[in-house]
Amino acid sequence: MSATYPAPLRLGVNIDHVATVRNARGGATPDPVRAALLAVAAGADGITAHLREDRRHITDDDIARLMAELTVPLNLEMAATEEMLAIALRHRPHAVCIVPEKREERTTEGGIDAAGQHNRLAPIIAALNDAGCRVSLFIEPDARQIDAAVRLCAPVVELHVGRYSELDGAERAEELRRLSDAAALAAKNGIEVHAGHGLTFDNVAAIAAIPQVMELNIGHFLIGEAIFVGLDEAVREMRRAMDAAR
Ligand code: PXP
Repeated sequence: MSATYPAPLRLGVNIDHVATVRNARGGATPDPVRAALLAVAAGADGITAHLREDRRHITDDDIARLMAELTVPLNLEMAATEEMLAIALRHRPHAVCIVPEKREERTTEGGIDAAGQHNRLAPIIAALNDAGCRVSLFIEPDARQIDAAVRLCAPVVELHVGRYSELDGAERAEELRRLSDAAALAAKNGIEVHAGHGLTFDNVAAIAAIPQVMELNIGHFLIGEAIFVGLDEAVREMRRAMDAAR
């Protein structure tokens, strides 16, 4: 299946850190589902939520409520474990993004080693594909990982742009080249390309300009910006920045 590039670019808003603030006090506010509905009203094309094994932000109940209340696709981020697979199969969200997870990390550090974990990932991806969930693998911009995604029959890869977002100068330019090459290679192999991690108003343009990238998933910066300008304005401004770069 071939797409015409540049295709429209979707924005998935990650609401994990609304739950982080809520959980700091253990109550019900601020409610991540309310934030999700507001983000959609402001122009988000989808909502992303990471149900971590330690439930440090999003909870099982949040996922159930998002499934019940959202009118746009939910992208469930999760580790490749039996527990998470059972949850995904119960809810059948539109998309499931498989991420590596380490208990002690502050946030997802690096992409999943799809090439090194083929045998562990294959049955999980097959079960999700069979259930009608659109599987995405969060990977480094690396030909070996894209090749692994092809062999695992993953229809989508999300390129990890965390390194790009932390670098500057020549190193950033080099990382951007790796991302562009990876996006082109994935698309050539019929894989839909997404990108995410560490995107802000200041660094989103170059990623949004990669023609094969069809979706950006953005969370921490938007939720932080919402403290100053409100979530509605933060999402609208991100949409403007993405559209201008396209
Ligand atoms: N995509 C994936 C796969 C992620 O794990 C995260 C972080 O949870 C994001 C996108 C969003 O990253 P950020 O919160 O830095 O915008």
